[in-house]
Amino acid sequence: MVAIKADAYGHGYLKAANALADADALAVASYEEAAQLRFAGERRPVVVLGGILDLQEARGAAEQRLQIVMHDYSQLDVLAELEPALALDVWVKVDSGMHRLGFAPADLDEVEQRLAARPNIRLLGWMTHLACADDLQNDFTRKQLTVFEQATAGRPGDRSIANSAGIVAWPESHADWVRPGIMLYGSAPIIDHWPADFDLQPVMTLQSKLIAVHEIKAGESIGYGQTWTCPEAMPVGVVGIGYGDGYPRHAPNGTPVWVGGTTVPMVGRVSMDMICVDLRGSPQARVGDTVELWGANVEADRVARAAGTISYELFCRLTGRVEFIYESE
Ligand SMILES: Cc1ncc(COP(=O)(O)O)c(C=O)c1O
Repeated sequence: MVAIKADAYGHGYLKAANALADADALAVASYEEAAQLRFAGERRPVVVLGGILDLQEARGAAEQRLQIVMHDYSQLDVLAELEPALALDVWVKVDSGMHRLGFAPADLDEVEQRLAARPNIRLLGWMTHLACADDLQNDFTRKQLTVFEQATAGRPGDRSIANSAGIVAWPESHADWVRPGIMLYGSAPIIDHWPADFDLQPVMTLQSKLIAVHEIKAGESIGYGQTWTCPEAMPVGVVGIGYGDGYPRHAPNGTPVWVGGTTVPMVGRVSMDMICVDLRGSPQARVGDTVELWGANVEADRVARAAGTISYELFCRLTGRVEFIYESE
């Protein structure tokens, strides 16, 4: 069950859905995202992780044969109003400790009974989400697995627990359906690890070009706020990308950028349309040269860590100004 919510983590949901031709099901966050997939002709099972909000969405979900994740009593009330002629497939989300979405283990008897009382509702299985699976040192994952196992023991249906981190690090979380997200896009799902540790390759390459190269004197500062000063006379490149494109404004001095076959450090603040780079390590670089902000040479995870965020956010935050080019279709 592949997570292609949020426009496939910023990669383009239709392209991702097509590329993931072997996936048995597609998982999205909302009814709207699921309806877009169906509108585009997607025929595989589509799981709506956030479930339905009202009767209109429940009817739409039934008509479009979506699988709905039930996580709140308000959704059971909505199902009670659904016309008996409309059949709906549902998963039940169990709160095993993350305390975001899901029914408390103590509520599952009642939930199961209420669903069983509706012949038009088919219970597919039980789902939970891991809060700390990316942290190998954190025992909370084992606690969540125990809570989930005990809460669902003897109940009919499939089980789904693992996100990417669960898949690579917690085999006991694999169950019937895994739900990979970030690993599909080539980022490392575990803290302090890199994509190569899991044989993952980046799907997205973010590139721009050098739009200027200057020789700057020692002691001169670069960019807004004078946050970086040249320690010697040196070449400084200007790259045509900035926070207006989704490059993280909080990326600090030293954030890696790939220019002319080498990683060089970013210097000065990220502007809306530009960043500057220290070209001492790439003196042959010229205006028009391709620059990689993240991809095969600079892992998005590295940029994310420098900027105090995660690759998920970098991917999702690219703006409409970035042109997407798809290869190997
Ligand atoms: C319920 C659920 N399952 C699976 C995933 C996929 O997680 P990841 O991208 O960490 O693999 C997510 C993403 O946040 C999620 O919310």
